[in-house]
Amino acid sequence: LGDKKLFLLSNREPYMHIKEGENIKCVVPAGGLVTALDPVMKACDGVWIAHGAGDADREVVDREDKIRVPPEKPSYTLKRVWLTKEEEKKYYYGFSNEGLWPLCHITYVRPVFRKEDWIEYQRVNEKFANALLDEIKDEDSPLVLVQDYHLALVPLLIKQKRPDAKIALFWHIPWPNPEVFGICPWAREILIGMLGADLIGFHIQFYCNNFLDTVDRFLESKIDWEHFSIERRGQITTVKPFPISVSFEDFSDNVENKAKLKVKLIKELGIKAEYIGVGVDRIDYTKGILERFLGIERFLEKYPQFIGKFSFVQFGSPSRTHIKQYREIMDAVEEVADRINWKFQSNNYKPIVFLKGYHPHSKIIPFYKIADLCMVTSLHDGMNLVAKEFIASREDESGVLILSQFAGASRELKDAVIINPYDIESIADAIYDALTMDEDEKMERMRKMRSFIQERNIYRWTRDLIASLVRL
Ligand code: G6P
Repeated sequence: LGDKKLFLLSNREPYMHIKEGENIKCVVPAGGLVTALDPVMKACDGVWIAHGAGDADREVVDREDKIRVPPEKPSYTLKRVWLTKEEEKKYYYGFSNEGLWPLCHITYVRPVFRKEDWIEYQRVNEKFANALLDEIKDEDSPLVLVQDYHLALVPLLIKQKRPDAKIALFWHIPWPNPEVFGICPWAREILIGMLGADLIGFHIQFYCNNFLDTVDRFLESKIDWEHFSIERRGQITTVKPFPISVSFEDFSDNVENKAKLKVKLIKELGIKAEYIGVGVDRIDYTKGILERFLGIERFLEKYPQFIGKFSFVQFGSPSRTHIKQYREIMDAVEEVADRINWKFQSNNYKPIVFLKGYHPHSKIIPFYKIADLCMVTSLHDGMNLVAKEFIASREDESGVLILSQFAGASRELKDAVIINPYDIESIADAIYDALTMDEDEKMERMRKMRSFIQERNIYRWTRDLIASLVRL
């Protein structure tokens, strides 16, 4: 970066201030984007512009709506953008999460596109772009990293006013094929907005291919298929995969006595178990949590010798709860967990421990470290960082990752036990295979995945992204 400052824009803020009685508490919101990018900003300094969503966010910022974060060791600036209830409803819940989210994930939740949401989406994108333009007014050729599907129109809005800005847009979720993307009544406008960027990044090559096919279908432009770039009205945009990752070191401190920690954690849960599985998700219909639970039920039916021995600890943070499908999935997950528990529980045994609520990393990491297996069963997922966090946490080189073939991470983590989450039987068998796998095989698989993630960590992702952007 040299002496250049980094400017990052996303909807979700990395630190949120909330009221707790008389006090103000600072929390880190759940989700892959924040997990991935906070270590980058801590290392590079710069300004992160995001929606101030906490109910005490306004009380802690300065007159420019800024605050240095993280609170314990301030190392970069967070500038908050304020949204009205109406803007949040239509831009965030409506267009972003009832429209683009299901559209790009193709998980049989029908996308909803309302004109009024689209209008607000455009307005809020302008609001974010203006906040950034204000911030970069004294900078020469600033480096701007725009994040995700909430801000698809921002690249062009910035480019029109500041052609010297170097803009990358990173899309954290999948990109579907042209037929599916064409459902969006404003497909062309979204593509045109995105093509204001010099560089567009996706997690995997497949999404890049889909994106180019989509542009080819809907816009008049010149596509260079060999170099994966698009020329439109004099602006060239390169499209490349950058598989996102985690900060390996943040998870890798050693646990002296793993067996003792396991006993302690199981005791704290108030259950009896010998084997522990772990899952960590926002409660979202794309994550396949129901399928996972049904897989556990099938596993216990098929391999009853594990009844009383295997318990699955599911951390689930409520998400986007103003959307009906999210409330429904939350109820369904609880209902299915209760039903399965009722079927198999006895004395202190419980097959599923569902921990609903906000859980900081400090609470989750010990479970990654002692679990016999971790399950990621997404029906579709851009990357999925839980898979990578679990691997980074296993300095003992043990533990098995069960991973959905529909998560971007499965393209890289070939030594996981790969499953199709729509095939409940395959989940049940994968649990059995994981629990009965011999130690040498577990270690060999884990070792390979660890060395991959150690090298391809989030710093490498940032370096590759910024180097590609600067080189263009
Ligand atoms: C996904 C999206 C992110 C988002 C995160 C959490 O990872 O790609 O943009 O921040 O989910 O969702 P939320 O709606 O709470 O920001």
